[in-house]
Amino acid sequence: MRFLSETKVLACHELRREGARRWLRLEIAGLGAASPGDTVLFSEDGHSPRCRIATVDRFSGGRATLVAKFEADDLAPAAGDGLTVWSNENPAVSVGAGSLIVTTPAFLYRIAPFEQCGAEVFVEDAGMDLWQDLRRRVESGLAWSSVFLALEPVRLQAFAAEFPDANPYLFANMEMSCGIGACRSCHVTVSDNKDGEASCRVGPWFALQRVNLVRLQFASAPFI
Ligand code: FES
Repeated sequence: MRFLSETKVLACHELRREGARRWLRLEIAGLGAASPGDTVLFSEDGHSPRCRIATVDRFSGGRATLVAKFEADDLAPAAGDGLTVWSNENPAVSVGAGSLIVTTPAFLYRIAPFEQCGAEVFVEDAGMDLWQDLRRRVESGLAWSSVFLALEPVRLQAFAAEFPDANPYLFANMEMSCGIGACRSCHVTVSDNKDGEASCRVGPWFALQRVNLVRLQFASAPFI
C-alpha cells in the first residue's frame, strides 16, 4: 500500500562524488513506514517539480536514513527542509531471508540495506566469472528461495541465456519524473500487459521472464 509522509531533513551528508554526480545521505524524521532496501520517491518542497529516487538505508521509529543520487550542481537539501516522501503501491515481491541478490560494486549502495532483512548480497568483482561462480554455489548446495538481479540489462540477457530455467526478479532502474504512474517515463515493457508497468507504482523488482530485456536496455538508467 502506498504511503505518503511529510518529513523534515535532520541532516544531509555527501557520501561520495564522481564526475557530474554525487551521492547524499539524508537523515529525515516523520517517515510513516519503510523497510531497509525499499525504493522510495521524494520531492523537495519548493525546489524541483520532478521527483527523485532514494533507497531506505535504515528506518526506526519514524526516523530514516535515505541515500540518493544528485547531480553535482543540484542544490542539496539542508537541515530543516521539508521532503514529501512516498512509496510505490504494490510491491510485486519482497526481498528477505532466503533471497540472493546479485549486484555490482557501483550499485551496492542501493542493495546492501537488504542484508538487514536477511537477504544474501553477492557482489560481482572485477575479473570474476559471475555465471561460473553462481553455478558453483548452486552445485555445492547453496540454494535460495528467490534470486534477484540488480544488473545492467545486457547482463540480464546473458543470465537468461546461461540459466534458462531460472525465474529471477530483475531490478528495473528507471529514470522517474512524476512518481505516480502518470508520465510513463518509468514504464517497463512486459509480456502480459500491453500498457507496460510503471516502475514507480509496482517496481523496482519485476519477474525477468515478463520483461522485454531489449527494450529495457534502452529505457533503463545506468546502474551507478
Ligand atoms: S515516474 Fe511518471 S510514470 Fe513513473
